[in-house]
Amino acid sequence: MKYDIRNLSFDKVTVSPSILAADFGTLDADCAKAAAAGADLLHLDVMDGHFVPNLTMGPPLLSSLRKASNLCFDTHLMVTDPLFYTPVFAKAGADHITFHVESDNDPAEVIAAIKAAGCTVGMSVKPKTPASALAPYIKDLDLILVMSVEPGFGGQSFMADMMPKVAEFRQMIRESGKKIHLEIDGGIDRKTVYEAVRAGANMMVAGTSVFRAADGMEAAIKALHDATSELAL
Ligand code: DX5
Ligand code: ZN
Repeated sequence: MKYDIRNLSFDKVTVSPSILAADFGTLDADCAKAAAAGADLLHLDVMDGHFVPNLTMGPPLLSSLRKASNLCFDTHLMVTDPLFYTPVFAKAGADHITFHVESDNDPAEVIAAIKAAGCTVGMSVKPKTPASALAPYIKDLDLILVMSVEPGFGGQSFMADMMPKVAEFRQMIRESGKKIHLEIDGGIDRKTVYEAVRAGANMMVAGTSVFRAADGMEAAIKALHDATSELAL
């Protein structure tokens, strides 16, 4: 494993631009621009057309991008069968793999498979799933991902009503005594980031607000980093 999310700060805001909002025709250039603009890692949304009603990127795309990018690949598996896809995406270049507790597999088996593949482990919850669903697994996690939109598409509106769940996860992380990133995904921009950090999220996934920022990616990423001042740990 070349890049490790455990080396990223746990007490500052970090930014993981979602390449779903990039131009797939110029993806390597867009990713290089995001890196130059201050991205801490790169968020890769893998959708299987089954767990969510959309298809995005497969292993060949990750392999190609791996050759062109020096950022940690924060891979978000929105798939029904993460057990099958974990080794596939690890081989293609994923450094970190997050899967959904709502998938068809036994979470303990998926966690073991991700570790066996040499990646760090994340688990995610869809908006309707409570924080308690991850309680049995927290000691094994490097990252928790809270969805602040229904997974499937970029460019949706931020669900502010997910903030109590973020705060609940922050409390669970404190009680665990472990260093675990609390990542949030969906509708994050320079305004909503403040709601997320005040609730306790330290890692921001941002697609539209970064790749399509009117004043450029550097200003967009800096605006998200600046929210560190209000981060509640
Ligand atoms: C949605 C994806 C997100 C999405 C975020 O299912 O998991 O990562 O790309 O896009 P924005 O930032 O545009 O809401
Ligand atoms: Zn995502």
